[in-house]
Amino acid sequence: MLLEKAEEVRRSTVGNEVHLRGIVEFSNICTQNCLYCGLRRDNRQLTRYRMTPSEIVEAAQTAKAWGCKTIVLQSGEDPWFTRDRMLDLIGQIKERTNVAITLSVGERTYGDYKAWRRGGADRYLLKHETASPALYESLRPGHKLAERLKALSWLQDLGYEVGSGNIVGLPGQTDDDLAADVELFCQKNFDMIGIGPFIAHPQTPLAGTPNGQLTKTLKVLALTRILTRDTNLPATTATGVLEPDGQRKALLAGGNVIMPDVTPAVYRKHYEIYPGKGEIPGPRAVIDMIASLGRRISQGTGSRSSPSARRPEQRGMEKVPS
Ligand code: 5AD
Ligand code: SF4
Repeated sequence: MLLEKAEEVRRSTVGNEVHLRGIVEFSNICTQNCLYCGLRRDNRQLTRYRMTPSEIVEAAQTAKAWGCKTIVLQSGEDPWFTRDRMLDLIGQIKERTNVAITLSVGERTYGDYKAWRRGGADRYLLKHETASPALYESLRPGHKLAERLKALSWLQDLGYEVGSGNIVGLPGQTDDDLAADVELFCQKNFDMIGIGPFIAHPQTPLAGTPNGQLTKTLKVLALTRILTRDTNLPATTATGVLEPDGQRKALLAGGNVIMPDVTPAVYRKHYEIYPGKGEIPGPRAVIDMIASLGRRISQGTGSRSSPSARRPEQRGMEKVPS
């Protein structure tokens, strides 16, 4: 019933269109050490790579050729990509493709976020991961949930369309914690929310712990659709890794976005946030799946009709540094 209700809300708010966002995973080098993630600094078994700016621009062009109106530039927290190098990249991609640009490169300074926004970046993804402060601190050593939330509100203040999200089924996470995630999604009025199951990675401290459940993930997704109404909700890659039909099920539980991976195959297999990630279907299969559901691929950039950045009265008014 919950999933059916979510579908009803999805149809009446965002309709039958599915937005394609091509994701380019341009560096798997990361200074952080999140306990759940295969890219964590202490994982010495991972082959590290960093794509060159021209390879990244080329991948963005591939995404455009597949019909993506947005490209997502994602990486670990890699200091080689300085403010200026990112700016240059944003400029080149805008000039050659004119697609919407989403950045997903982690926690950076207010000045970096500001420069990139002015340089043409449209959106930013930064999942809050879990709304439980204690769980957050135990899984992201040296970091606090409050810092993450501050970064998210800076991004909203700078006029980005902002995406957050969580991981469902983290070791030690309770249903109350998940309820707090959904409450946070509503309070902050995010423009996109990525909800994915936890998948244990053998080369992390969480090796051998149970994976999150797809059913629970779909329930959180459906509830988020019902409560947020018109936000953009991806059928996350992790749902498809957990179960071959997972992304399809997510599109039938309130989802309206899918992010095909356009990273060149030589690199893609090393962007192993969790095992199995490199093997999920590419853009061709994604396009066919959307058609098989009787849904349409959106021809627009998929900006939210009422972005949070323009509704400051709905957010906490934290002070912004100059
Ligand atoms: N299982 C599921 N999702 C994960 N992420 C990182 N590690 C895992 C994992 N083991 C997610 C985080 C991060 C995104 C890039 O990948 O939510 O924000
Ligand atoms: Fe780095 Fe992001 Fe993985 Fe954390 S989740 S280790 S910040 S890539």
